[in-house]
Amino acid sequence: MQPKQKKFFIQTFGCQMNVYDGWRIAAMLTHHGLEQTENISDADIIILNTCAVRAKATDKVFSALGRIRRAKKPSALFGIVGCVAREAGASAFRRIPDLNFVLGPQSYHKLPQILENPDARLLNIDLGGLEKFDELPQMEKSPRVAYIPIQEGCNHVCTYCIVPYTRGRELSRPFADCIRDTIHAAKTGAIEICFLGQNVNGYKYTDENGTVFRLSDLIRETAKIPEIMRIRFTSSYPTEMTDDLIDMFATEPKLLPFLNMPIQSGSQSVLTRMNRPYSLELYTDIIRKLRIARPDIQISSDFIVGFPGETDDDFDQTMKIAQQIKYINSYSFKYSPRPHTAAALMPDQIPENIKAERLAKLDALLNEIQREFNIGCIGKTLQCLLEGPDKTGRHLVYRTPFMQQCIVAFRENAPELTDLEITDANKASLRGKFLTDN
Ligand code: SAH
Ligand code: F3S
Repeated sequence: MQPKQKKFFIQTFGCQMNVYDGWRIAAMLTHHGLEQTENISDADIIILNTCAVRAKATDKVFSALGRIRRAKKPSALFGIVGCVAREAGASAFRRIPDLNFVLGPQSYHKLPQILENPDARLLNIDLGGLEKFDELPQMEKSPRVAYIPIQEGCNHVCTYCIVPYTRGRELSRPFADCIRDTIHAAKTGAIEICFLGQNVNGYKYTDENGTVFRLSDLIRETAKIPEIMRIRFTSSYPTEMTDDLIDMFATEPKLLPFLNMPIQSGSQSVLTRMNRPYSLELYTDIIRKLRIARPDIQISSDFIVGFPGETDDDFDQTMKIAQQIKYINSYSFKYSPRPHTAAALMPDQIPENIKAERLAKLDALLNEIQREFNIGCIGKTLQCLLEGPDKTGRHLVYRTPFMQQCIVAFRENAPELTDLEITDANKASLRGKFLTDN
């Protein structure tokens, strides 16, 4: 009799890089002969792929571990990979004594070792560099939007951010490897490429002949691939938005007119204490240049409210810049003190109720700007990429070039990339229709 096929369960929290890592882990375990299950009680190995960016994200992981422990088969292995593994290290075993593995974001390719030696405890939170990318198998089928990590880690050391600690210093993957993965994605179903990195526009790779490759080179090369119709990248650091990259928005129509370039705060003194040493003039000047290069470009940002020492006046300046730039698709967070970061030790930590008040005010403004932008799209025709049917099955969800959802009536064999006429809008999404009846 054949031994029963072992099953794995994986749950991913956090950013797009983690979502990508989650896919790679699933592909790796499938390659090892395991089958994916959505049911914890059925799984032989349970993996939480974790995020540590805010305290709440870390807490979520430990409460999920408590639930898993009660629901899993007694023989099942369970553990964490990703940023919480790196943040908690060996202390994770003290919090959850029967945990089987704790693997950081650059060592999850070592996961199969636990399958070979299930009685061992596996702890590896080394920053092993880019080794994981070479050891993981390619995916056989790519999603319509393929995420290609080109760079990992961050050298910026914003004083609030745990990412430089969990993901380490910045490393760019070889240009040839990035292009190989992009071509593989295109040949296996991708239509859109999203280049990923914590500091993606800092991508810089020097090959053995001394030739330097930047993100603009990757974009130019990717645009030549006929199957690829849309290109974007995330997340960008303002001062790395160099002129060669800005030019891409003018010269490369496949590059979407949408850019995520977090400002975090509109107050110069808060930015300085965040160790984001760019002036507001420089930031707005980059946006001016981008708008000259691509007049329809839209910008999204992340914001942190309630950073230590943030005054009412500092916060008003954040509101002002949000209104001035008219950010769309943005995220705002209450400042959360994190271990291994300088800001956690700063004086004048802001009380929770003030953080909550400021967040509500900023969110209301960002929602209003988004609603205005969405309504302004009514009557326009936008080229949109199919995401799939909605939950009811009566509609299809498409993505506009500005990453808005556009909902249309269900149609069999709907085109993957098509022009849609925008007929209605609210703050969350657009409604559209096909230009032809069939
Ligand atoms: N450039 C990175 C950003 C990582 S963190 C990337 O996209 O990979 C994502 C966002 O979380 C940051 O832009 C910041 O707005 C927010 N963030 C990071 N640390 C935080 C903290 N300690 N408290 C609240 N928000 C935080
Ligand atoms: Fe974090 Fe700042 Fe880098 S937000 S990922 S340290 S650019």
